[in-house]
Amino acid sequence: MRPEVRPMTDEDKPAVIQMLRNIPEFEPTEIDVAEEVINSYLGDSIRSGYHIFVAEVGSSIAGYICYGPTPLTEGTWDIYWLAVAPDKQSQGIGKALLNFADGNIKERKGRLALIETSSKPEYETTRLFYRAQGYEIACRIANFYAPGDDKLVFQKRLR
Ligand SMILES: CC(C)(COP(=O)(O)OP(=O)(O)OC[C@H]1O[C@@H](n2cnc3c(N)ncnc32)[C@H](O)[C@@H]1OP(=O)(O)O)[C@@H](O)C(=O)NCCC(=O)NCCS
Repeated sequence: MRPEVRPMTDEDKPAVIQMLRNIPEFEPTEIDVAEEVINSYLGDSIRSGYHIFVAEVGSSIAGYICYGPTPLTEGTWDIYWLAVAPDKQSQGIGKALLNFADGNIKERKGRLALIETSSKPEYETTRLFYRAQGYEIACRIANFYAPGDDKLVFQKRLR
């Protein structure tokens, strides 16, 4: 089913946090950071600098994406979070959210979108997903997150 992509509201927060807890790739400390970012956005979306959208299927939250302009750059944007509920993955929801974000960033005169991820084996599907969406590896910082866990920065030129 095609998801509806719409701005996140206060009412969505419990479902989004629960969805993040259900995703095995995310550590509890990462979910704490995601929640801080969500609180900042829900408190004052304009001043927070974050844009958060949810994908709804039927009346339930199936995924969310969070992105924003990278401070002190001209037209560079970071995609900070993208997640789809485990039972809703591989149904085109991540693609719908990322396509939406790419389009929205472009409309806002963004020219470069960046996404960081880990080199750990459990993120292999995620890396294949980014490649399938037209993102390519711009750089790798070895042993960034932990010994043996590199940071990969994916990029997409939007204009
Ligand atoms: C990564 C993630 C966001 C992808 O979302 P998704 O809804 O499962 O992915 P989609 O169904 O939209 O996949 C879209 C495309 O990605 C590619 N893709 C997805 N999984 C793939 C796999 N295992 N192998 C190869 N290609 C794959 C396919 O080309 C697919 O396109 P197609 O259906 O037209 O063939 C989701 O799996 C997820 O939340 N994972 C856990 C959390 C995470 O890693 N988040 C990102 C890091 S912050």
